Amino acid sequence: MTFSTDRPPSWQVCIVCANESLETDAAVRCRVCGGLLEVRHRRPDLPGPVLRGLFQTRCCTRPDTTASGVWRFQELVMPSAGAHPISFPEGNTPLLYRQRIAEWAGISDLFLKHEGMNPTGSFKDRGMTVGVTQAVRIGARAVVCASTGNTSASLAAYAAYAGLPAFVLVPAGQVARGKLAQTVGYGARVLAIRGDFDACLRLVEAASELLGLYVLNSVNPFRLEGQKTIVLEMLQQLGWQPPDWIVLPGGNLGNTAAFGKALEEARAWGLIDRVPRLAVIQAQGAAPFARGYAGEFLQRVRVEAETVATAIRIGDPASWDRAVHAIRYTDGVVVSVSDAEILAAKSVIDHAGVGCEPASAAAVAGVRHLTAIGKIPPEARVVAVLTGHMLKDPEILLNAAGATAIQEVDPTPEALARVVEGTASE
Ligand code: F0G
Repeated sequence: MTFSTDRPPSWQVCIVCANESLETDAAVRCRVCGGLLEVRHRRPDLPGPVLRGLFQTRCCTRPDTTASGVWRFQELVMPSAGAHPISFPEGNTPLLYRQRIAEWAGISDLFLKHEGMNPTGSFKDRGMTVGVTQAVRIGARAVVCASTGNTSASLAAYAAYAGLPAFVLVPAGQVARGKLAQTVGYGARVLAIRGDFDACLRLVEAASELLGLYVLNSVNPFRLEGQKTIVLEMLQQLGWQPPDWIVLPGGNLGNTAAFGKALEEARAWGLIDRVPRLAVIQAQGAAPFARGYAGEFLQRVRVEAETVATAIRIGDPASWDRAVHAIRYTDGVVVSVSDAEILAAKSVIDHAGVGCEPASAAAVAGVRHLTAIGKIPPEARVVAVLTGHMLKDPEILLNAAGATAIQEVDPTPEALARVVEGTASE
């Protein structure tokens, strides 16, 4: 269908066949053709500068949910959500500058948007607050997701808050310990599937309708509405002066799609007058989108994925079509970096006292790579998004640096002195 009268404040549209549906339709894919859906909002009544002023008045200090770094932008996210969304609150993540990381990456003006500082330690909380709010609005009886770990931890937390049973499907043996521990701790039912993430997602999509479960993977367009606020909040922190580049890791490509949509709307609705370019970074062993980009997206590429960055160990990204649009709209680029480059970047980020999980470090490894090949000029202003917290993946820390950094010492002042003096003279 298409609306023949005035459209409501928000509605859904299929990005393949353009079929339109109500905002409260529970289907997460198009009922006509199975294509991906997108949430559309009517252009806000207020002009860009007034909207910017409104967002500023809500910043951080208010006791209500508008203090959330997501719901502060409610007019652009879910105007009809009402006053009581399921909000932690989340967002309000720092935009950091660390000279050592910038120097390593070869860019003088490199900022880090640290999404690991969200309540469950990843950017997923921004999408989940909106997704679970929508689940409650449509009367879902239980929620489900497939996950490489962060989505599951976030879903588990927000579902617990909303009082909804949560089921999460994860690839057996492939999820970092911190993420698994959180998911179990928040009380979700964890199903370790004998297969990879792509198999988990296929299973979720195939079985959810039959089982009456509301899908909260990023195929769900409401998740992306929340994730748009990473970009909106970053722009606000930069005084609405867009950077030249925004660099982010790509796995299932929900974030890439959300960033593109955020920029398109911000430009159309007068919040910014220039669109930054997106650079999506994949791990070399899990780089179907980078290969697609190299072939001008003439073909959809699928691979068997393998990388140390388990969060982005994804071979058949669900948001492919939306992400292609985002890259084209922003004149973006997609490249891959090796696991060794990811771990080198992670070490620099960790040793600068910032810390992040491996998939996040791919963004900074990507900045260094794009600078080295001359794609990003050294004087460009760049924001790299750190998507997850350092504690998400404790094994990788203890396996690498930990093996040598942890030293057993006898409980005597002499033994301690030997270590301290040895370190000092190194
Ligand atoms: N970084 C981290 C830390 C992630 O957890 C993910 C995705 C990504 C990057 C990639 O983002 O999928 O939007 O391209 N994690 C999902 C999960 C797949 O299940 O937690 P994307």
